[in-house]
Amino acid sequence: MVEKTSDEILGKAYDSKLMKRLLTYVKPYKKYVVLAIFLNVFVAGLAPLRPYLTKIAIDESIANKDYESLTFITALLFASLLFQAVMQYGLTYFTQLMGQKIIYDLRVQIFSHVQKLALKFFDKTPVGRIVTRVTNDVESLNELFSSGIVMVFSDLFIIFWIFVFMFSLSFDLSLITLSVLPALFYATFLFRKKVREAYRDVRFHLARLNSYMQERVGGINIVQLFNKQKRELNKFKEINKDYRDANIKSVFYYAIFYPTVEILSSLAVALIIWYGGGKVFESTMTLGILFAFVQYTEMFFRPIRDLSEKYNIMQTAMASSERIFKLLDENTVIPDPEKPVIPGNIKGKIEFKNVTFAYNEGEDVLKNVSFTIEPGQTVAIVGATGAGKTSIISLLSRFYEPQKGEILIDGININNMRKEDLRKMICVVLQDVLLFSGSIKSNINLNNSEIPDTKIAEAAEMVGAQKFISGLPAKYDEEVHEKGAKLSMGQKQLISFARALAYDPKILILDEATASVDTETEILIQNAIKKLLSGRTSIVIAHRLSTIQNSDKIIVMHKGEIKEMGTHQELLAKRGIYFKLYQLQYKDQEITKTA
Ligand code: UTP
Ligand code: MG
Repeated sequence: MVEKTSDEILGKAYDSKLMKRLLTYVKPYKKYVVLAIFLNVFVAGLAPLRPYLTKIAIDESIANKDYESLTFITALLFASLLFQAVMQYGLTYFTQLMGQKIIYDLRVQIFSHVQKLALKFFDKTPVGRIVTRVTNDVESLNELFSSGIVMVFSDLFIIFWIFVFMFSLSFDLSLITLSVLPALFYATFLFRKKVREAYRDVRFHLARLNSYMQERVGGINIVQLFNKQKRELNKFKEINKDYRDANIKSVFYYAIFYPTVEILSSLAVALIIWYGGGKVFESTMTLGILFAFVQYTEMFFRPIRDLSEKYNIMQTAMASSERIFKLLDENTVIPDPEKPVIPGNIKGKIEFKNVTFAYNEGEDVLKNVSFTIEPGQTVAIVGATGAGKTSIISLLSRFYEPQKGEILIDGININNMRKEDLRKMICVVLQDVLLFSGSIKSNINLNNSEIPDTKIAEAAEMVGAQKFISGLPAKYDEEVHEKGAKLSMGQKQLISFARALAYDPKILILDEATASVDTETEILIQNAIKKLLSGRTSIVIAHRLSTIQNSDKIIVMHKGEIKEMGTHQELLAKRGIYFKLYQLQYKDQEITKTA
């Protein structure tokens, strides 16, 4: 069974708490609401007026062969139609405008909130789900704001007016029209129940479809490399089929519901013609009233039918808003201190004091880690994969918080600094380089206009990226895409180095890629690293021990613990883990050399 997610929240059609919160988004646009209600009163009031005018035309003008009043009433009917059309235009325009403005605000709020969340949240939340919040869910709120709220109001208003006119014309006929209501209510009740269930299935399967699509497209290279297209396609067909079937099911209920309402309304009309016709024979009722009633009855059923559609809009919107608010209420954030210490001129001393950390409670990935890095020193961290090297960096950048111990920069506990200040001093060049869609330039300065073009070029020059960039057709304005597909691994690495240099941080952290590059690029990268490290405190996580032999200190990690610490020579002399690692790599190199 597929795991059920929040995409499945069924939702009530009306939840006063949610509604209250939703209305806070309407507040800035109060004037639109007032305008919409005002227009509504006109639109809703005009329609029920027409059958009444028809009645007068039949009973008075036609009966008395009064051409003048007939012309007048016809003109009045026409004018009311025209007027209503204009009002309707304004109503549609302003409600849609309001809806769009509200969902614009919401999307901004969601994005800005999501950006603040801690990595811990993203570890457990698929990206697809967040995207769905900003797109699908917000969109269904648009429907609520632009048609839901105001239109429900207008439907109720129309029903009210029809009632007033009907009862003032004929009590008996009104009762006849109302006599089919119980059947109608029952049909509506059944419909709502069924559609609600069908709708839940639709949502559920849509969420599955989205996340499947997202993952497979994201990993398309793996899919193709392992020739999994056929298998993936079959799986996709299966999910797609479930989605289609769920949709067909909900369509089925709609297809049955509308004709049912149609039949009931025709039945009411037939009853009225039959009963009212008799009364006309007896001359206890005029033809005009009968005629007006037929129109009222038809008019009466339309908003009732629409109300059930509105019900769905409401329900979808409530479910969506519940999901959106859940995301907005998500408070997995690493808080900034209330009274932050604003670091002055940072020298770049780093201290870890007895730091213990676990991503998941009880599974310590760092155990009692302590070390000190003096300003300007270069320290290397080595160790097998999964030893906890990247975790150390994540803690230093405050992506996560340690369970025990403290981390100090220049003697200030990083918990007492604002994350913004902390991250300004640190620049991390990650294992897997991520480029954003945009130009080479924007990938180096990350759209920070304070970094001038000359500095970008200087940084690129220093890390040796200048050569390949000047070979690109558009040079610094060359567009790269999400995954930086146009560039090689090494080139991407150089870009990220240039980024670090351009930002000129006090503390530089380098999480070296395991992927090997060609010898020429390797030399470029090694030179770039040398330039990057000089004049600042640096932590280098290196897989190639050749990179780190000159570092001031080497920390050897093993299963979350520091096992050895010292210079290259000291550690070799110790003949411990580092010595073994070195020998292994040395042997490798010997083999590749002789091969
Ligand atoms: P690290 O990511 O710190 O290992 O994970 P590392 O030393 O840098 O490894 P390489 O060389 O890049 O491959 C340390 C432990 O933390 C767990 C991992 O399972 C690993 O055992 N971990 C890591 C998590 O539980 N969650 C994470 O998000 C990351
Ligand atoms: Mg790592």
